[in-house]
Amino acid sequence: MDKPSTVAAPQDSKKAVHAPASYTRFDLSQRIEHILFLASFSILGLTGLVQKYSASPISQAIMEAFGGIETTRMVHHVAAFAMLWVAIYHVISVLYRVYVLRVSWTMLPVVEDFKHLYADLSYWVGLRKHRGYYGRYNYAEKVEYLAVVWGTIIMALTGFMMWNPITTTKYLPGEIIPAAKVAHGLEAVLAVLAIFIWHMYHVHIKRFNKSMFSGKISQEEMEQEHPAELAEIEAGTNWKPPDDPTIRKRQRRFIPIAAVLGLFMSAGVMWFVNVEPETAITTIPPGETAEVFVPVTPTPRPSPVPTATPGLDAGVRADSWDGKYSALFTNRCGSCHGRTAVGGLNLATYQDALEGGKSGPGIVPGNPDASALVRIQSTGGHPGQLSIAELEQLINWILAGAPER
Ligand code: HEC
Repeated sequence: MDKPSTVAAPQDSKKAVHAPASYTRFDLSQRIEHILFLASFSILGLTGLVQKYSASPISQAIMEAFGGIETTRMVHHVAAFAMLWVAIYHVISVLYRVYVLRVSWTMLPVVEDFKHLYADLSYWVGLRKHRGYYGRYNYAEKVEYLAVVWGTIIMALTGFMMWNPITTTKYLPGEIIPAAKVAHGLEAVLAVLAIFIWHMYHVHIKRFNKSMFSGKISQEEMEQEHPAELAEIEAGTNWKPPDDPTIRKRQRRFIPIAAVLGLFMSAGVMWFVNVEPETAITTIPPGETAEVFVPVTPTPRPSPVPTATPGLDAGVRADSWDGKYSALFTNRCGSCHGRTAVGGLNLATYQDALEGGKSGPGIVPGNPDASALVRIQSTGGHPGQLSIAELEQLINWILAGAPER
């Protein structure tokens, strides 16, 4: 996090002529900030990754330990809220250091860092006797700092989108929500791996550097890790705090601006977590269990092929639309080709049947080949399939001119 050049003065300034045992590297506020960030980061990483990889038994065990997915999500949101405050605190404290204390931006990369990297590469392949002559922060520390800043911004933006999807999609297309989810999850993996590999190596394995907790760094570590900074301290050209009147004068200008900025950012955080109390933050009660897909198996029934319909008006032939096919099609085809007219085909009335659907006329009197009903049914396997005998009768009826009555 924030590590602009604070005073790295010998512990006891009277004895400054002699090599002091240790130097102050981080002040209390920086150390507290680091612990808060560490805590919120770890909780977020843990409660987030178990959600990303929720199918894994390890994730499920961890979620169970938290008391279920609802609590896990709540803990994740609370930790995110905490991290947002740490970020606000960081911005204000950096501005304070830069404006009031006038420390330089030693955390930002400069050309010198590439020279150090080149020097280190030469050292590792044996072309050079010494590593880079680093100042207060070396390139590895700067890269990590920038990754944290960048990562926090990305996570806050994509986190906001998932937390408040309705507000987000007022301004952005809906695809942004699943995209934000992917980016949030992958950036999380990247961040956790960066901590486990990059941070772990540089801070704990290469040399166990406790300065972020103790605030102190030893003479020997200074010689090894920050020789350029040490040289500045010894030459007395390092940064020194301004005198009290100057500080007070700058504070008078800084405090109102910082207060407004702080209020503005705090309002942003509160908006972030409250703008949509009814969407992502609300846990929807688990749904009841039900079979998702229940295939409809048609009940077999005897095919009513009325040969001679009793009670028909005199003058209605048995082998006609009214005498036979109207009832046949209603019974056998009506569920799909009734009012719903699947494929545009409605077989409710004689006129409708003549008209047919999107494949052309259903019945062309005298011409079975031109009739879609015959064509479609002849290929077999139709969801409502006529038997061969029925099909033959249908063809004969059409050949006979498909009489209506
Ligand atoms: C379970 C539903 C179902 C039943 C019952 C059914 N069909 Fe169909 N039918 C379909 C579907 C699905 C299509 C294809 C629609 C498409 O391609 O858009 C279709 C298409 C057709 C077409 C072509 C329509 C066109 O113009 O494209 C004909 C003719 C047809 N059916 C005849 C029949 C006949 C005759 C019966 C009764 C013996 C019948 N169908 C029963 C589902 C059914």
